[in-house]
Amino acid sequence: DDEKGSVYTVRAQKGKTEIFDGTETVTYGYNGSFLGPMIRLEKGDTVKIKTVNELDEETTFHWHGLEVAGSADGGPHESLKPGEEKVIEFKVEQEASTLWFHPHPEGKTAEQVYNGLAGLIYIEDDNSKSLGLPNEYGKNDIPLIFQDRTFDDKKQLNFSAAMNDDGTIGDTLLINGTLNPKLAVNKEKVRLRLLNGSNARNYTFKLNTGDSFVQIATDGGFLNKPVTLKEITLTPSERAEIVIDFSQLDTENELALINEDGSILLPFEVSDQNGKVSEIPGEMNNFSITEEEKSLPVTKKLELFGMMDQVTINGKKFDPERIDFTQQQGETEVWEIYNKPDEMGGMIHPFHIHGAQFKILSRNGEEPPENERGWKDSISIHPDETVKIAIQFKHKGVYMFHCHILEHEDNGMMGQVKVE
Ligand code: C2O
Ligand code: CU
Ligand code: CU
Repeated sequence: DDEKGSVYTVRAQKGKTEIFDGTETVTYGYNGSFLGPMIRLEKGDTVKIKTVNELDEETTFHWHGLEVAGSADGGPHESLKPGEEKVIEFKVEQEASTLWFHPHPEGKTAEQVYNGLAGLIYIEDDNSKSLGLPNEYGKNDIPLIFQDRTFDDKKQLNFSAAMNDDGTIGDTLLINGTLNPKLAVNKEKVRLRLLNGSNARNYTFKLNTGDSFVQIATDGGFLNKPVTLKEITLTPSERAEIVIDFSQLDTENELALINEDGSILLPFEVSDQNGKVSEIPGEMNNFSITEEEKSLPVTKKLELFGMMDQVTINGKKFDPERIDFTQQQGETEVWEIYNKPDEMGGMIHPFHIHGAQFKILSRNGEEPPENERGWKDSISIHPDETVKIAIQFKHKGVYMFHCHILEHEDNGMMGQVKVE
Protein backbone atom coordinates (compact mmCIF):
# COMPACT_ATOMS: atom_id res chain seq x y z
CA ASP A 1 0.00 0.00 0.00
CA ASP A 2 0.97 3.62 -0.57
CA GLU A 3 3.17 4.67 2.39
CA LYS A 4 1.77 8.18 2.51
CA GLY A 5 -1.73 6.88 2.35
CA SER A 6 -4.01 5.43 4.93
CA VAL A 7 -6.20 2.40 4.52
CA TYR A 8 -9.28 1.94 6.63
CA THR A 9 -12.06 -0.59 6.83
CA VAL A 10 -15.34 0.66 8.19
CA ARG A 11 -18.04 -1.90 8.88
CA ALA A 12 -21.60 -0.98 9.80
CA GLN A 13 -22.65 -3.53 12.39
CA LYS A 14 -25.41 -4.46 14.74
CA GLY A 15 -24.48 -5.44 18.27
CA LYS A 16 -25.20 -5.15 21.95
CA THR A 17 -23.92 -2.46 24.26
CA GLU A 18 -24.05 -2.19 28.03
CA ILE A 19 -25.28 1.38 28.33
CA PHE A 20 -27.09 0.65 31.58
CA ASP A 21 -25.28 -1.53 34.13
CA GLY A 22 -26.17 -5.16 33.73
CA THR A 23 -28.42 -4.70 30.69
CA GLU A 24 -27.65 -5.13 27.04
CA THR A 25 -29.12 -2.68 24.57
CA VAL A 26 -29.32 -3.55 20.90
CA THR A 27 -27.33 -0.90 19.06
CA TYR A 28 -25.67 -0.12 15.74
CA GLY A 29 -22.05 0.87 15.38
CA TYR A 30 -19.07 1.06 13.09
CA ASN A 31 -16.39 -1.58 13.77
CA GLY A 32 -18.08 -2.31 17.04
CA SER A 33 -21.45 -2.29 18.68
CA PHE A 34 -22.00 1.43 19.24
CA LEU A 35 -20.84 4.65 17.53
CA GLY A 36 -17.56 4.40 15.65
CA PRO A 37 -13.78 4.46 15.58
CA MET A 38 -11.88 7.70 15.18
CA ILE A 39 -10.63 8.15 11.66
CA ARG A 40 -7.44 10.20 11.66
CA LEU A 41 -6.44 11.82 8.39
CA GLU A 42 -3.71 14.20 7.36
CA LYS A 43 -3.93 16.84 4.72
CA GLY A 44 -2.21 15.45 1.64
CA ASP A 45 -3.03 11.83 2.45
CA THR A 46 -4.41 9.52 -0.16
CA VAL A 47 -7.03 7.55 1.69
CA LYS A 48 -8.69 4.29 0.85
CA ILE A 49 -11.70 3.24 2.86
CA LYS A 50 -13.32 -0.13 2.45
CA THR A 51 -16.90 0.23 3.60
CA VAL A 52 -18.84 -2.91 4.46
CA ASN A 53 -22.53 -3.19 5.23
CA GLU A 54 -22.95 -5.94 7.82
CA LEU A 55 -26.44 -4.78 8.81
CA ASP A 56 -29.57 -6.55 7.71
CA GLU A 57 -30.82 -3.39 5.99
CA GLU A 58 -29.45 -0.99 3.38
CA THR A 59 -27.13 1.75 4.46
CA THR A 60 -24.62 4.27 3.10
CA PHE A 61 -21.39 5.73 4.47
CA HIS A 62 -21.50 9.53 4.39
CA TRP A 63 -18.48 11.67 5.35
CA HIS A 64 -20.03 14.81 6.72
CA GLY A 65 -17.89 17.86 5.92
CA LEU A 66 -15.37 16.03 3.78
CA GLU A 67 -14.61 17.45 0.35
CA VAL A 68 -14.76 14.37 -1.85
CA ALA A 69 -16.22 13.41 -5.23
CA GLY A 70 -19.96 12.81 -5.24
CA SER A 71 -19.39 9.11 -5.89
CA ALA A 72 -17.47 8.79 -2.60
CA ASP A 73 -19.74 11.05 -0.55
CA GLY A 74 -22.16 8.33 0.50
CA GLY A 75 -25.42 10.10 -0.19
CA PRO A 76 -28.65 8.14 -0.70
CA HIS A 77 -27.55 7.10 -4.22
CA GLU A 78 -24.58 5.15 -2.82
CA SER A 79 -26.70 2.63 -1.00
CA LEU A 80 -25.15 -0.72 -0.06
CA LYS A 81 -27.36 -3.74 0.38
CA PRO A 82 -26.79 -6.09 3.31
CA GLY A 83 -23.47 -7.86 2.76
CA GLU A 84 -22.27 -5.46 0.08
CA GLU A 85 -19.02 -3.55 0.24
CA LYS A 86 -17.52 -0.62 -1.60
CA VAL A 87 -14.04 0.85 -1.66
CA ILE A 88 -13.72 4.59 -1.94
CA GLU A 89 -10.55 6.58 -2.50
CA PHE A 90 -9.86 10.25 -2.10
CA LYS A 91 -7.14 12.74 -1.35
CA VAL A 92 -7.42 14.94 1.72
CA GLU A 93 -7.11 18.49 0.44
CA GLN A 94 -8.85 20.45 3.15
CA GLU A 95 -7.44 21.90 6.33
CA ALA A 96 -7.37 20.58 9.88
CA SER A 97 -10.84 20.11 11.30
CA THR A 98 -13.18 17.82 13.18
CA LEU A 99 -15.65 16.12 10.85
CA TRP A 100 -17.90 13.13 11.29
CA PHE A 101 -19.49 10.27 9.43
CA HIS A 102 -22.92 8.69 9.51
CA PRO A 103 -25.34 6.78 7.27
CA HIS A 104 -27.61 8.43 4.71
CA PRO A 105 -30.05 5.87 3.25
CA GLU A 106 -33.17 7.41 1.82
CA GLY A 107 -35.87 7.75 4.48
CA LYS A 108 -33.87 5.78 7.06
CA THR A 109 -31.08 8.15 8.04
CA ALA A 110 -32.69 9.32 11.28
CA GLU A 111 -33.35 5.84 12.62
CA GLN A 112 -29.92 4.45 11.75
CA VAL A 113 -28.13 7.40 13.36
CA TYR A 114 -30.46 7.06 16.33
CA ASN A 115 -29.45 3.42 16.71
CA GLY A 116 -25.80 4.41 16.97
CA LEU A 117 -24.21 4.92 13.57
CA ALA A 118 -21.91 7.92 13.94
CA GLY A 119 -18.16 8.40 14.18
CA LEU A 120 -15.59 11.17 14.13
CA ILE A 121 -12.94 12.16 11.63
CA TYR A 122 -9.96 14.28 12.63
CA ILE A 123 -7.95 16.00 9.93
CA GLU A 124 -4.54 17.34 10.93
CA ASP A 125 -2.19 19.51 8.91
CA ASP A 126 1.12 21.37 9.38
CA ASN A 127 -0.73 24.32 10.87
CA SER A 128 -2.67 22.30 13.44
CA LYS A 129 0.52 20.51 14.48
CA SER A 130 2.49 23.72 14.94
CA LEU A 131 -0.04 25.83 16.84
CA GLY A 132 0.77 24.23 20.18
CA LEU A 133 -2.87 23.66 21.07
CA PRO A 134 -3.78 20.97 23.60
CA ASN A 135 -3.55 17.75 21.63
CA GLU A 136 -3.26 14.83 24.05
CA TYR A 137 -6.18 12.67 23.04
CA GLY A 138 -8.51 11.90 25.92
CA LYS A 139 -6.49 14.04 28.31
CA ASN A 140 -6.63 17.64 27.19
CA ASP A 141 -8.08 17.10 23.71
CA ILE A 142 -11.42 15.41 24.06
CA PRO A 143 -14.13 14.60 21.55
CA LEU A 144 -17.67 14.93 22.90
CA ILE A 145 -20.62 13.63 20.89
CA PHE A 146 -23.92 14.79 22.40
CA GLN A 147 -26.98 12.67 21.61
CA ASP A 148 -30.39 12.42 23.24
CA ARG A 149 -32.17 9.10 23.28
CA THR A 150 -35.27 7.47 24.72
CA PHE A 151 -35.19 3.91 26.04
CA ASP A 152 -38.15 1.63 26.60
CA ASP A 153 -38.75 -0.23 29.85
CA LYS A 154 -36.44 -3.02 28.68
CA LYS A 155 -33.73 -0.37 28.16
CA GLN A 156 -33.86 -0.71 24.41
CA LEU A 157 -33.52 2.27 22.06
CA ASN A 158 -36.98 3.34 21.09
CA PHE A 159 -37.04 5.51 17.97
CA SER A 160 -40.81 5.81 17.72
CA ALA A 161 -41.29 6.59 21.42
CA ALA A 162 -38.81 9.46 21.07
CA MET A 163 -40.61 10.86 18.03
CA ASN A 164 -41.97 14.34 18.47
CA ASP A 165 -43.62 16.59 15.90
CA ASP A 166 -40.30 17.63 14.42
CA GLY A 167 -38.04 14.70 15.11
CA THR A 168 -36.82 12.56 17.93
CA ILE A 169 -36.29 14.29 21.26
CA GLY A 170 -34.90 11.84 23.77
CA ASP A 171 -35.28 12.04 27.53
CA THR A 172 -31.80 10.62 28.18
CA LEU A 173 -28.52 12.28 27.27
CA LEU A 174 -25.64 10.17 26.06
CA ILE A 175 -22.16 11.61 25.59
CA ASN A 176 -19.91 9.45 23.45
CA GLY A 177 -22.52 6.77 23.97
CA THR A 178 -22.15 6.93 27.75
CA LEU A 179 -24.79 7.55 30.37
CA ASN A 180 -24.00 10.14 33.08
CA PRO A 181 -20.32 10.59 32.26
CA LYS A 182 -17.99 12.79 34.29
CA LEU A 183 -14.97 14.26 32.62
CA ALA A 184 -11.74 14.06 34.59
CA VAL A 185 -9.36 16.89 33.75
CA ASN A 186 -6.21 18.43 35.15
CA LYS A 187 -5.78 22.10 35.94
CA GLU A 188 -4.83 23.06 32.44
CA LYS A 189 -6.29 24.25 29.18
CA VAL A 190 -8.57 21.55 27.85
CA ARG A 191 -9.77 21.41 24.27
CA LEU A 192 -13.27 20.01 23.79
CA ARG A 193 -14.36 19.03 20.31
CA LEU A 194 -18.12 19.35 20.56
CA LEU A 195 -20.41 17.61 18.09
CA ASN A 196 -24.15 17.96 18.26
CA GLY A 197 -24.86 14.43 17.09
CA SER A 198 -28.53 14.58 18.02
CA ASN A 199 -31.21 14.09 15.40
CA ALA A 200 -33.28 17.14 16.28
CA ARG A 201 -32.24 18.75 19.57
CA ASN A 202 -30.23 21.98 19.90
CA TYR A 203 -27.77 22.54 22.75
CA THR A 204 -26.54 25.79 24.25
CA PHE A 205 -23.33 25.01 26.09
CA LYS A 206 -22.16 27.16 28.97
CA LEU A 207 -20.27 26.80 32.24
CA ASN A 208 -22.40 26.60 35.38
CA THR A 209 -20.17 29.29 36.93
CA GLY A 210 -20.86 31.74 34.14
CA ASP A 211 -17.15 31.80 33.28
CA SER A 212 -16.13 32.25 29.69
CA PHE A 213 -14.19 29.96 27.38
CA VAL A 214 -12.74 30.39 23.91
CA GLN A 215 -13.88 28.90 20.64
CA ILE A 216 -10.98 27.98 18.36
CA ALA A 217 -12.59 26.10 15.49
CA THR A 218 -15.81 25.88 13.50
CA ASP A 219 -17.12 22.92 11.48
CA GLY A 220 -14.35 23.01 8.89
CA GLY A 221 -11.25 24.61 10.42
CA PHE A 222 -9.66 26.98 12.88
CA LEU A 223 -10.95 30.48 13.43
CA ASN A 224 -8.37 33.17 12.69
CA LYS A 225 -8.22 34.03 16.35
CA PRO A 226 -9.79 32.54 19.46
CA VAL A 227 -13.21 34.03 20.22
CA THR A 228 -14.19 34.48 23.86
CA LEU A 229 -17.72 33.28 24.61
CA LYS A 230 -19.98 32.67 27.57
CA GLU A 231 -22.14 30.24 25.63
CA ILE A 232 -22.40 28.56 22.27
CA THR A 233 -25.41 27.02 20.59
CA LEU A 234 -24.94 24.06 18.28
CA THR A 235 -27.78 22.76 16.12
CA PRO A 236 -27.73 19.18 14.84
CA SER A 237 -24.49 18.25 13.02
CA GLU A 238 -22.65 21.48 13.92
CA ARG A 239 -19.24 21.22 15.58
CA ALA A 240 -17.18 23.65 17.60
CA GLU A 241 -13.82 23.27 19.26
CA ILE A 242 -13.64 25.16 22.52
CA VAL A 243 -10.89 25.52 25.12
CA ILE A 244 -11.65 25.79 28.82
CA ASP A 245 -8.79 26.89 31.05
CA PHE A 246 -9.22 24.86 34.22
CA SER A 247 -6.08 26.41 35.72
CA GLN A 248 -7.93 29.71 35.89
CA LEU A 249 -11.25 28.48 37.24
CA ASP A 250 -12.28 28.26 40.84
CA THR A 251 -12.45 24.51 41.31
CA GLU A 252 -13.70 24.63 44.89
CA ASN A 253 -17.22 24.19 43.58
CA GLU A 254 -18.55 21.66 41.14
CA LEU A 255 -17.88 22.65 37.57
CA ALA A 256 -20.06 21.54 34.69
CA LEU A 257 -21.18 22.31 31.21
CA ILE A 258 -24.85 23.13 31.40
CA ASN A 259 -27.60 23.67 28.87
CA GLU A 260 -29.73 26.77 28.36
CA ASP A 261 -32.31 25.61 30.91
CA GLY A 262 -29.60 25.04 33.52
CA SER A 263 -29.69 21.25 33.26
CA ILE A 264 -26.31 19.58 33.56
CA LEU A 265 -24.80 18.31 30.34
CA LEU A 266 -21.34 17.30 31.52
CA PRO A 267 -19.88 17.58 35.03
CA PHE A 268 -16.11 17.95 35.37
CA GLU A 269 -13.89 16.32 37.93
CA VAL A 270 -10.90 18.60 38.24
CA SER A 271 -7.81 17.04 39.81
CA ASP A 272 -5.30 19.00 41.90
CA GLN A 273 -2.67 18.25 39.31
CA ASN A 274 -1.40 21.06 37.24
CA GLY A 275 -1.34 19.99 33.65
CA LYS A 276 0.62 21.26 30.73
CA VAL A 277 0.94 25.00 30.37
CA SER A 278 -0.03 25.90 26.84
CA GLU A 279 -0.90 29.14 25.15
CA ILE A 280 -3.69 29.54 22.66
CA PRO A 281 -2.04 31.46 19.84
CA GLY A 282 -3.63 34.77 18.88
CA GLU A 283 -3.39 33.87 15.22
CA MET A 284 -4.47 30.44 14.12
CA ASN A 285 -5.63 30.66 10.54
CA ASN A 286 -5.90 32.82 7.44
CA PHE A 287 -9.59 32.43 6.64
CA SER A 288 -10.86 35.35 4.61
CA ILE A 289 -13.79 36.49 2.54
CA THR A 290 -12.57 38.33 -0.53
CA GLU A 291 -14.08 41.52 -1.97
CA GLU A 292 -14.88 39.49 -5.05
CA GLU A 293 -16.85 36.95 -3.05
CA LYS A 294 -18.72 39.76 -1.32
CA SER A 295 -19.72 41.29 -4.64
CA LEU A 296 -20.92 38.09 -6.35
CA PRO A 297 -24.60 38.05 -7.27
CA VAL A 298 -26.95 35.52 -5.70
CA THR A 299 -27.31 32.66 -8.17
CA LYS A 300 -29.25 30.15 -6.10
CA LYS A 301 -32.20 30.84 -3.87
CA LEU A 302 -33.59 28.33 -1.42
CA GLU A 303 -36.63 28.67 0.73
CA LEU A 304 -36.95 26.39 3.72
CA PHE A 305 -40.50 25.95 4.86
CA GLY A 306 -42.73 23.96 7.15
CA MET A 307 -42.75 21.80 10.22
CA MET A 308 -43.43 18.19 11.12
CA ASP A 309 -43.74 16.11 7.97
CA GLN A 310 -44.86 19.13 5.92
CA VAL A 311 -41.32 20.30 5.26
CA THR A 312 -40.10 21.48 1.89
CA ILE A 313 -37.29 23.31 0.13
CA ASN A 314 -38.57 25.66 -2.58
CA GLY A 315 -41.99 24.09 -2.15
CA LYS A 316 -40.74 20.61 -3.04
CA LYS A 317 -39.93 17.41 -1.28
CA PHE A 318 -36.88 15.30 -2.12
CA ASP A 319 -37.02 13.32 -5.32
CA PRO A 320 -33.96 11.17 -6.03
CA GLU A 321 -34.63 11.53 -9.76
CA ARG A 322 -34.68 15.33 -9.69
CA ILE A 323 -31.57 17.52 -9.85
CA ASP A 324 -32.51 20.85 -8.27
CA PHE A 325 -29.43 22.85 -9.18
CA THR A 326 -26.23 22.60 -11.16
CA GLN A 327 -22.94 24.27 -10.39
CA GLN A 328 -19.54 24.26 -12.09
CA GLN A 329 -16.67 22.53 -10.31
CA GLY A 330 -14.30 25.13 -8.85
CA GLU A 331 -16.72 28.01 -9.34
CA THR A 332 -17.75 30.05 -6.32
CA GLU A 333 -21.45 30.85 -6.16
CA VAL A 334 -23.57 32.70 -3.65
CA TRP A 335 -26.56 30.84 -2.29
CA GLU A 336 -29.27 32.69 -0.47
CA ILE A 337 -31.24 30.59 1.98
CA TYR A 338 -34.41 31.89 3.55
CA ASN A 339 -36.31 30.26 6.40
CA LYS A 340 -39.92 31.17 5.72
CA PRO A 341 -42.09 31.22 8.86
CA ASP A 342 -45.59 29.79 8.88
CA GLU A 343 -48.60 30.98 10.87
CA MET A 344 -47.21 29.12 13.91
CA GLY A 345 -43.98 31.09 13.69
CA GLY A 346 -41.71 28.43 12.29
CA MET A 347 -38.57 26.92 13.74
CA ILE A 348 -34.80 26.80 13.36
CA HIS A 349 -33.65 24.58 10.51
CA PRO A 350 -30.00 23.51 10.61
CA PHE A 351 -29.05 23.63 6.94
CA HIS A 352 -26.23 21.45 5.59
CA ILE A 353 -24.57 20.98 2.21
CA HIS A 354 -22.53 17.91 1.28
CA GLY A 355 -19.09 17.87 -0.31
CA ALA A 356 -17.96 21.38 0.53
CA GLN A 357 -17.05 23.82 3.27
CA PHE A 358 -18.65 27.23 2.76
CA LYS A 359 -18.31 30.79 4.05
CA ILE A 360 -21.14 32.70 5.68
CA LEU A 361 -21.35 36.10 3.97
CA SER A 362 -24.26 37.49 5.93
CA ARG A 363 -27.16 36.81 8.25
CA ASN A 364 -30.08 39.12 7.50
CA GLY A 365 -27.67 41.42 5.68
CA GLU A 366 -25.28 41.70 8.62
CA GLU A 367 -21.83 40.22 8.99
CA PRO A 368 -21.98 36.89 10.82
CA PRO A 369 -20.83 36.80 14.45
CA GLU A 370 -17.08 36.47 14.98
CA ASN A 371 -17.27 32.79 15.83
CA GLU A 372 -18.90 32.04 12.48
CA ARG A 373 -16.11 33.63 10.46
CA GLY A 374 -14.61 30.31 9.55
CA TRP A 375 -15.40 27.26 7.38
CA LYS A 376 -18.87 25.86 7.89
CA ASP A 377 -20.81 22.95 6.44
CA SER A 378 -23.91 23.32 8.60
CA ILE A 379 -25.62 26.48 9.73
CA SER A 380 -28.58 27.28 11.92
CA ILE A 381 -31.19 29.37 10.13
CA HIS A 382 -33.83 31.03 12.28
CA PRO A 383 -37.44 31.73 11.24
CA ASP A 384 -37.59 34.68 8.85
CA GLU A 385 -33.82 34.75 8.57
CA THR A 386 -31.97 35.06 5.27
CA VAL A 387 -28.45 33.71 5.10
CA LYS A 388 -26.01 34.22 2.26
CA ILE A 389 -23.14 31.84 1.79
CA ALA A 390 -20.30 31.55 -0.72
CA ILE A 391 -19.70 27.97 -1.77
CA GLN A 392 -17.30 26.24 -4.10
CA PHE A 393 -17.21 22.52 -4.85
CA LYS A 394 -13.74 21.11 -5.51
CA HIS A 395 -15.06 17.87 -6.99
CA LYS A 396 -17.76 16.68 -9.35
CA GLY A 397 -20.83 14.69 -8.57
CA VAL A 398 -24.28 14.89 -7.12
CA TYR A 399 -24.48 16.30 -3.60
CA MET A 400 -27.34 16.58 -1.14
CA PHE A 401 -28.33 19.74 0.69
CA HIS A 402 -30.83 19.40 3.49
CA CYS A 403 -32.12 20.25 6.91
CA HIS A 404 -30.02 18.30 9.44
CA ILE A 405 -32.99 17.64 11.69
CA LEU A 406 -32.70 14.11 10.40
CA GLU A 407 -36.43 13.48 10.55
CA HIS A 408 -37.00 16.58 8.40
CA GLU A 409 -34.39 15.28 5.98
CA ASP A 410 -36.10 11.87 5.85
CA ASN A 411 -39.42 13.66 5.35
CA GLY A 412 -38.09 15.21 2.17
CA MET A 413 -36.47 18.47 3.28
CA MET A 414 -33.59 17.77 0.94
CA GLY A 415 -32.50 18.58 -2.58
CA GLN A 416 -29.62 17.81 -4.94
CA VAL A 417 -26.98 19.92 -6.61
CA LYS A 418 -25.07 18.44 -9.52
CA VAL A 419 -21.50 19.68 -9.85
CA GLU A 420 -20.19 19.34 -13.40
CU1 C2O B 1 -24.55 14.92 8.11
CU2 C2O B 1 -26.47 14.73 4.64
O1 C2O B 1 -25.43 14.84 6.36
CU1 CU C 1 -23.20 15.73 5.08
CU1 CU D 1 -35.75 21.35 9.48
